Amino acid sequence: MLRTRLTERLKLEHPVISAPMGFASGGKLAAAVSAAGGLGLIGGGYGNEEWLREQFTAAGNQRFGCGFITWSLQKQPHLLDLALDHAPGAMFLSFGDPAPFAERVKRAGVPLICQVQTVKDARRAIDVGAEIIVAQGSEAGGHGEKRATFALVPEIADLIAAQAPDTLLCAAGGVADGRGLASALVLGADGVVIGTRFWASAEALVHPNLHQAAVSAGGDDTLRGRTIDIVRGLDFWPARYNLRTMRSETTDRWHGKDEKLKAVAEYEVKRYADAAASGDTRIVSPIVGEAIGLIHDIRPAGKILEDIVREAETILKRKAPGWVAG
Ligand SMILES: Cc1cc2nc3c(=O)[nH]c(=O)nc-3n(C[C@H](O)[C@H](O)[C@H](O)COP(=O)(O)O)c2cc1C
Repeated sequence: MLRTRLTERLKLEHPVISAPMGFASGGKLAAAVSAAGGLGLIGGGYGNEEWLREQFTAAGNQRFGCGFITWSLQKQPHLLDLALDHAPGAMFLSFGDPAPFAERVKRAGVPLICQVQTVKDARRAIDVGAEIIVAQGSEAGGHGEKRATFALVPEIADLIAAQAPDTLLCAAGGVADGRGLASALVLGADGVVIGTRFWASAEALVHPNLHQAAVSAGGDDTLRGRTIDIVRGLDFWPARYNLRTMRSETTDRWHGKDEKLKAVAEYEVKRYADAAASGDTRIVSPIVGEAIGLIHDIRPAGKILEDIVREAETILKRKAPGWVAG
């Protein structure tokens, strides 16, 4: 058993939270992760009320948390109340200033998790009273920024130790196995938030063709850019964030040519939507992180979690003492 401040605070068996991946992590995945001893999050994403209600139902009686894209939640703030009405195990806000929502989450007695990409935003999360800060490195799948996990996590751990020692810290970005979990704990995190590895699970809401293409890819096959947001008709993300995906014909053709792509966006958006519906992996870029290179199969989420924790325990218990000479 790995016991950390995160397992104690959230009453978990394992210090692992599954990421709120918009439209990919529904109620079934969240419930599977929670049933296996972690905390599973439903990915509220841009906020589709009907989809959210379906996923709350799909989670059944199992505990789950919920996540929103903060700048998008500002357009539909009532969705926060809808989620809070389901007594989530945590509320996860990422990409934007959490201040307008923090008080409501805390008043509901729900732990507030703020995912940040910079130390400056970690300070902001402390100021608004986040119970858990997630330091997200650029290796991560999905939206993010420039800082890499390996230096961002200890820098924020130092900030927390100095200014808000009761605040917990999780690492996100590049964690897909026990090595990642063990390293995150050594870097000063109390746990991890894992996206890509759970995206590649049996319970994730992902087209099977995309799963198949992703498990044979490596970390070198991913890149950060704006192309995929433009062709998904989501070209309104704040400029500081971009998206890590796998490469595809679409990124090969348009990466770095945003203005030219926008000029033909109407055609490309339709083409991409059709390809996504049929699972055409030549055109569609699965949204995954660099950790895809560590993932070679699609397994049930509970089994994935079990293996990650067992491997981390082995590393921390058996290997670490052997590394210290004398
Ligand atoms: C398919 C996918 C969708 C994601 N969607 C969201 C999202 O809607 N909201 C969010 O806060 N983070 C989202 N993320 C990022 C995760 O919160 C997390 O930072 C990331 O998955 C961690 O890195 P990893 O993918 O290497 O595990 C997404 C990640 C993936 C892979």
